[in-house]
Amino acid sequence: MRLDVFFTPDELAATDIREHVAIVVDVLRATSVIAQAIASGAKVIYPADTTEEAVRLGQNLDRAELILCGERGGIRIEGFDLGNSPLEFTPDTVGGRTLVMNTTNGTPALVAASTAARTLSASFLNLGAVAKAVAREQAVSIICAGRERRFALEDAVCAGMLIERLQKGRKSGPLNDAAAAALVLAKRYEGDLDAMMRTTAAGRQLMEIGHDHDVVYCAGLDQLDVVPRLEDRRITA
Ligand code: MLT
Repeated sequence: MRLDVFFTPDELAATDIREHVAIVVDVLRATSVIAQAIASGAKVIYPADTTEEAVRLGQNLDRAELILCGERGGIRIEGFDLGNSPLEFTPDTVGGRTLVMNTTNGTPALVAASTAARTLSASFLNLGAVAKAVAREQAVSIICAGRERRFALEDAVCAGMLIERLQKGRKSGPLNDAAAAALVLAKRYEGDLDAMMRTTAAGRQLMEIGHDHDVVYCAGLDQLDVVPRLEDRRITA
């Protein structure tokens, strides 16, 4: 299995991933929210590249069934129903509903990765489920959302832990340099994800706006047995 990591979606620019399985990671918090929403029974999630696109998408859907969700600066976007805390996405709130989601880094990363043969969404919460789902693939590209087009430590550690799971008990093919680096970071931090996330730029911002509980929750490993898949701009289980 060939394994590549991209620390930001911009790094994808020169790479053709049409034959690859893409796994998008935005631990704080978009892909953690997507795993939680799917586990809570959300029917479908439309990731939007911009807030304007989200509103436009919402106008074509049945408002009674629709939930507009997303953040800017970690705070719920004005006029939207939900923000981007996984703790808001309960079965009562999103069960059977249609979600249109826009976030700063995560949803644009999903849109950027949608050219892949198969596009999945991973976080620490559903790490094992996603690793199992791609175990037999030939080429896997792990795309980190990063933070405002820069490296995000929590995403790189998650990518490294995915590689560890995919290499376990099998001969692994070549790794690109980012994948090799992500593996080293995973070995350094996998013992205490919560402490690591509290040191990151995204983690600190969330704590500054009173979302400590999200940092703790998103550090939960293998809590959700879900594999969200993006196809035709729709994410379903
Ligand atoms: C993002 O997509 O940028 C993050 O999920 C932002 C956040 O949740 O605060």
